[in-house]
Amino acid sequence: MAFALETDNLGKVFADGSIALRDVSLRARAGEFLTLLGPSGSGKTTMLRLLAGFERPTSGSVWIGAKIVADGTRFVPPEQRKVGMVFQDYALFPHVDVAGNIGFGLRAGAAQRDKQVRRMLDMVGLPKFSERLPHELSGGQQQRVALARALAPNPDVLLLDEPFSNLDSDLRVHIRNDVREILRETETTAIFVTHDQEEALSLSDEIAVIYEGRLLQLAAPHIIYNRPSSIQVAKLIGEANVLPARAQGLTARSRLGEVKLYHPRSGEVSLMIRPEALHIDHLDETGVPAKVQWREFFGHNQRVGLALGDGTELVAWTGVERYIRRGDQVRVSLGMPVLAYEAGK
Ligand SMILES: Nc1ncnc2c1ncn2[C@@H]1O[C@H](COP(=O)(O)OP(=O)(O)OP(=O)(O)O)[C@@H](O)[C@H]1O
Ligand SMILES: [Mg+2]
Repeated sequence: MAFALETDNLGKVFADGSIALRDVSLRARAGEFLTLLGPSGSGKTTMLRLLAGFERPTSGSVWIGAKIVADGTRFVPPEQRKVGMVFQDYALFPHVDVAGNIGFGLRAGAAQRDKQVRRMLDMVGLPKFSERLPHELSGGQQQRVALARALAPNPDVLLLDEPFSNLDSDLRVHIRNDVREILRETETTAIFVTHDQEEALSLSDEIAVIYEGRLLQLAAPHIIYNRPSSIQVAKLIGEANVLPARAQGLTARSRLGEVKLYHPRSGEVSLMIRPEALHIDHLDETGVPAKVQWREFFGHNQRVGLALGDGTELVAWTGVERYIRRGDQVRVSLGMPVLAYEAGK
């Protein structure tokens, strides 16, 4: 089997009847970084717990490597799965020093264990910290120790449940890039949970979009962003303007006038327009008139709220070469073809 990890129609219903996962079929290739992205309560942690063996599935199966580790009859306990886990709160043992934390799960003899602990400390850039206690470390350093501890037994699969959410934004970007690099170097297959869209888009080889326990789409980041399988997926990853339109072939009529479509369609459709696809101009005669309702300035670009003549509201991202103010009368047009979905989907 080509996959390092696979679930087949995996379902989880808890004892109180709450349905956390419904028929989820996921797969990750060896060395891949797969992100589970979804809103709070969508089933991400439950999925990791099923993969690790902390929960039993109520239907379907889990494969790690070429082996079934859970299905209707079989169940391999967590300690026999070769799966490592890094939690949001790091979960380091508070009274054990860094070296003790990292070496905790290693069954090898003392000399072998020390060697592996040293290797891990070098890898995460903390060679001089082996005797510190967790409370003597910064948040980012604790995060690295947690990663070193999870990687020390050479797991086949590493599960990461929102491991960066306790870090402030600068450190977060720094640490997540470091972690990504370490996983690349060690060719570890990783399943990463986040509800940060930017994190998912920038780090992942593949993204699984999960909503209310269902897998909506599994694909590479640029596919999920540029060719979402539904308007719902489009809204779960990035911003989307949705406009009703009437399509015929590769064009559609909408409140933005005649627009070009990626795929031929006919009849009533919903257009999905990313904010950066909208072009704003003060002079252009070709666009549709709009009034600037609000503007948020981010230095490298700006986010602009627009209202068309009939009250339709749109959000646009534009560059900062032009000064845009609230109340400005502008023209808005589309610079590229857009996706159209069956109306109501
Ligand atoms: N032990 C449990 N018993 C009953 N219901 C549970 C249990 N654990 C989780 N759930 C429910 O299953 C659903 C999925 O929860 P889960 O923790 O997997 O969500 P999540 O996607 O990780 O959310 P978050 O982003 O908030 O961490 C939720 O509705 C939750 O209330
Ligand atoms: Mg969770």
